[in-house]
Amino acid sequence: MLDVLVVGYGLMTRGILPHLLRREELSVSLMSRHLTSPPYPEVRLVRAAELERPDAILGCFEDDDASRDFWTSPHVTEAVARGHSACIEMSTLSPSWIDAWHGHIRESGGVAVECPVTGSRSGAADGTLSAFVHQSAYDARVETVLNAFTRQRYSFGSAGHPTRFKLVYNAWGAALLHSLTAFVPTLRTVLDDDFDVAARILSSDGWMAPVCASKLDRMVESRFDDPDFALRHMVKDLRYAHDVLPPPHPLLDLVHDSFTRALSAHGGDADYTAVTGTGTGTGAGTATATGSGRS
Ligand SMILES: NC(=O)c1ccc[n+]([C@@H]2O[C@H](COP(=O)([O-])OP(=O)(O)OC[C@H]3O[C@@H](n4cnc5c(N)ncnc54)[C@H](OP(=O)(O)O)[C@@H]3O)[C@@H](O)[C@H]2O)c1
Repeated sequence: MLDVLVVGYGLMTRGILPHLLRREELSVSLMSRHLTSPPYPEVRLVRAAELERPDAILGCFEDDDASRDFWTSPHVTEAVARGHSACIEMSTLSPSWIDAWHGHIRESGGVAVECPVTGSRSGAADGTLSAFVHQSAYDARVETVLNAFTRQRYSFGSAGHPTRFKLVYNAWGAALLHSLTAFVPTLRTVLDDDFDVAARILSSDGWMAPVCASKLDRMVESRFDDPDFALRHMVKDLRYAHDVLPPPHPLLDLVHDSFTRALSAHGGDADYTAVTGTGTGTGAGTATATGSGRS
């Protein structure tokens, strides 16, 4: 039986936990700063001081500070040393912190598994996340844990590369989403009732289809509550992306600014598609997007 500690009970770990519980070979405990009772009877809620020798620790934090606070706390560092634990860090972090994190886990005697993921809330809930992975050593415990909730794993040869890739990948995705703001309102104004035809084309045919199929409805309906991915996380990711994408980078600056304004308008807990609800696109007609009266 492998002792797995899940750290943080957020959108991602909430989806992942049931997949871990289904594996008979895993015994799952959870550490949370806000939960007062376990979300499932078979999960043990623990505090750092109670940690013994976890086989694997799975962390998914809001940012560098939360990740650093956890991994460098004396109780956790000592538990990692006792268990030679597989430390699986799934958060999207800055390049400088993930580089330091590898050093810290190595010095603590753990196996460092840098593992940012993609797939959003539905990927976590379905157990079909894709993970970008670099691990300091092969460890069968990591395979067992990651098999429970990932569909694809992509192995990177160097520490820090999964994080750098993920930051560029997210910034690029954010730019695609931002681009909807520049063009969709114009189509709604110009096409009026025919916007439905345009929406069908955009969502099913051609280059824009994958993005529009998953995000256009939220934009058209101004439905930014119940987040799949919180706006504050994307603003954080774009901030960290500046450390990978060298300046001057006018597109990154524009997109970062657009998401930051969406955060002011909609709050950090809105879905990140709220960037399409700010009328901040660079195209004409962005402020008059009532089109077919869907919003
Ligand atoms: N959501 C996605 O689609 C997605 C995809 C890829 C990567 N990521 C990355 O994964 C990391 C975590 O993302 P997430 O979407 O899971 O973030 P999240 O829901 O905001 O959770 C982050 C942390 O906030 C705390 N939290 C959650 N709900 C709370 C509540 N009701 N009250 C107080 N605290 C609460 C939890 O820690 P405690 O339990 O300790 O309080 C949790 O670990 C981020 O680095 C993000 O960039 C997210």
